Amino acid sequence: MPLKVETSEILARTEHYNIDFKEVRGQVSAKRALEIASAGGHNILLIGPPGSGKTMLAKRLPTIMPPLEFDAALELTKIHSVAGLTGRSGLVTERPFRSPHHTISDAGLIGGGTLPRPGEVSLAHQGVLFLDELPEFDRAVLEVLRQPLEDQKVTISRAAMSLTFPAAFMLAAAMNPCPCGYWSDPTRECRCSPLQIQRYVGRISGPLLDRIDIHIDVPAVKFRELAGDVLPETDSSAIIRARVITARERQLDRFRGERIFCNAGMTPRMIRVHCKIDSKSEQMLESAMQRLGLSARAYDRILKVSRTIADLEGCENIGATHVSEAVGYRSLDRTYWA
Ligand SMILES: Nc1ncnc2c1ncn2[C@@H]1O[C@H](COP(=O)(O)OP(=O)(O)OP(=O)(O)O)[C@@H](O)[C@H]1O
Ligand SMILES: [Mg+2]
Repeated sequence: MPLKVETSEILARTEHYNIDFKEVRGQVSAKRALEIASAGGHNILLIGPPGSGKTMLAKRLPTIMPPLEFDAALELTKIHSVAGLTGRSGLVTERPFRSPHHTISDAGLIGGGTLPRPGEVSLAHQGVLFLDELPEFDRAVLEVLRQPLEDQKVTISRAAMSLTFPAAFMLAAAMNPCPCGYWSDPTRECRCSPLQIQRYVGRISGPLLDRIDIHIDVPAVKFRELAGDVLPETDSSAIIRARVITARERQLDRFRGERIFCNAGMTPRMIRVHCKIDSKSEQMLESAMQRLGLSARAYDRILKVSRTIADLEGCENIGATHVSEAVGYRSLDRTYWA
């Protein structure tokens, strides 16, 4: 074991992000949702008007994920060097943040070429793949994300050979609430018709949405919160990350012997075992689902996220407060699909 300690120390010393959650003003709920996403490995969708800080928030996600293990850093370095991205710096010690433009091809996203090269999903391995303006992506391109999201790897088949690259990433996506962007903004008028909004949201395929456990509204920050030189008291990335690490440790204990490491990976069978809720919470969830018109597929997602919220609080049992917070992270099913 001494080798392990040494290498992780080396990694800790070389890891350095130039950005921090402290720089984001306000957005308390969005930060909380990102903390939960990181703690449970959940994919997340940020919904808000232009300039509300979606990109700023998503970029900071790697800073609150647990530090890379040495083996993972080596594997990541290999992928990045195949793509010619490592430069002179050698070992990749920070979790990547990849943000491909919505005009990307499917080969660019999952990899390809005569001599197969890793695509964005593999370059985002162990880190974050950020899809900004999600509805603008070609449906066929988003479709190819399903395999890596499911298997955490991609296989690129060519006549002569087939190559597999790792692709275990967290998906973060962002979108405006409607085509003009201002549907949820109290200070601007939105001119989109319900049909236009429905078409816009409908561009994202159901199966992809199915793999995103958390939706969060990111409203425009009030001027009062943005103005002023003194930053208000808010948790730094290091503080949030410490909570994430503790929650992840609980999950590692829970899934010992299984092939998953965090709550997001639970199969329906595991959900039945690990996400039991008492009858009071069950009733509350049932009535919330009816009231908000949530689909059955939202049910398992709510349970998984409740499990992570309970883990962050250090609770063995999932309680009604955990469930009701998790219900709040299904805004897209609620507002737009109903
Ligand atoms: N909460 C915030 N705290 C501090 N600065 C912010 C905040 N929100 C936005 N900003 C500032 O506004 C800029 C624009 O934010 P950002 O690009 O993240 O918005 P966005 O929601 O991604 O917008 P778009 O929909 O246009 O992509 C940021 O670079 C930052 O300077
Ligand atoms: Mg943006």
